[in-house]
Amino acid sequence: MASAASVAENFNIVHPVDYASQGYPHDIWTQLRRDEPVFWWDRTDGIPFWAITKHADITEISRLPNEFENGPRLVIGHQPEVEGMRDMFPPTLIQLDPPKHGLYRQLISKRFTPRALKKIHGDIEEIGKEIVDALVVDKDSGECDFVEEVAAPLPIAVIAWLLGVPREDWKLLFDWTNRTIGAGDPEYISEGKTQQETASEAMIELFQYFSQLVEQRRKNPQDDLITLFTQFEVDGKPLPPMDILAWCLIIVVAGNETTRNGTTGGMLAFIEHQDQLRALQADPSLMDSAVEEVVRWTSPIIHFGRTATVDYELRGKQIKTGDALALFYPSANRDEEVFEDPFEFRIDRRPNRHLGFGVGEHFCLGAHLARLELRVAYKHLLPRIEEIELAGPVSRLHSALVGGVKRLPIRYKIRQEA
Ligand code: HEM
Repeated sequence: MASAASVAENFNIVHPVDYASQGYPHDIWTQLRRDEPVFWWDRTDGIPFWAITKHADITEISRLPNEFENGPRLVIGHQPEVEGMRDMFPPTLIQLDPPKHGLYRQLISKRFTPRALKKIHGDIEEIGKEIVDALVVDKDSGECDFVEEVAAPLPIAVIAWLLGVPREDWKLLFDWTNRTIGAGDPEYISEGKTQQETASEAMIELFQYFSQLVEQRRKNPQDDLITLFTQFEVDGKPLPPMDILAWCLIIVVAGNETTRNGTTGGMLAFIEHQDQLRALQADPSLMDSAVEEVVRWTSPIIHFGRTATVDYELRGKQIKTGDALALFYPSANRDEEVFEDPFEFRIDRRPNRHLGFGVGEHFCLGAHLARLELRVAYKHLLPRIEEIELAGPVSRLHSALVGGVKRLPIRYKIRQEA
């Protein structure tokens, strides 16, 4: 049986440092799924919480947004919570609960449907092609950090372009997301500051920046998301300024690190499973299922939190009102009861009911956009690859929220005939 002690001793499943040094603890999650899928971690160095590791349970909880709320606590920290910190910033879409959540989500959801994305497909394709071309055009071979050259710039560029951020400021967004999501990483943490202070500082800078852009768009509307946010109305009234800034924040933060790490993790999977790379090169019609498998395999979001608003029984365990829960998506995506050979990376996996984008009320708004970005990156890069291998150690982000690869050094040879 998995016990709290054995879990805590082997790997702290909400501690950024352990993820950086060891990657995903699939052996521990597998043990929890088998022995204690609804696991109460009664710790004192952070709030106690239920670790939920089965696909069916994460699905059940995510589909009960009134009973399990996002608002109070979206992330289970590894340190005691600081009182008042949560109220410093306006809640973003992902922190809203019914009924406000539905009202706010429908303001924007049409912009992210496959149909709406079709209209901007060409532009996103151009952005992706430009980034990949810099790596392969007129080259026989090369060596680079895949994260720096491809996986990081692509989502930043797409999000910035969608929002209407001028090109010269795209790198600022990169820095703010690193410091918001990666605040627990020694590389991004501000000197003499805690993780929470680093993230707050970055958010304040981001808010100041977007305040100016919002003002500009009010005076001079454009065809971009920031202009759209200024035009949102709920109950016939425009949104308060802080809510508009919260929209900017969620799009920047949710759309960047996740896609970056999905793209990078997928590249690493292709390097480690060259038969799958060759299969995709031979049959590009497998691209859609390959992208789904990349999301299942990499599961870039490690966990999101919930807070129970009722007493609830799950697998014979009594969850109490006010209890915190952590939903471990990468664990659900290796659930033996759902996936055949879950530890095999198979680009033709069908069906593939992964939970990489979540499920239920808060299902990822950007899922279709993320799929499109992954397709664009791989479509332009993979057919050109003759050979590819790691050129150095993979360095991972200190985060228990996004499973991040900070650096993926690759060495590659380009196919001349493509
Ligand atoms: C591979 C890339 C991505 C992954 C793995 C991912 C994962 C997720 C997950 C697991 C959730 C569910 C949260 C919950 O249930 O509490 C979510 C929500 C969300 N995602 Fe993504 N995401 C990705 C890309 C994107 C992109 C590109 C955007 C850009 C707009 C985006 C925007 C959002 C938003 C706004 C929400 C909140 C939706 C709501 O609360 O209704 N995501 N994402």
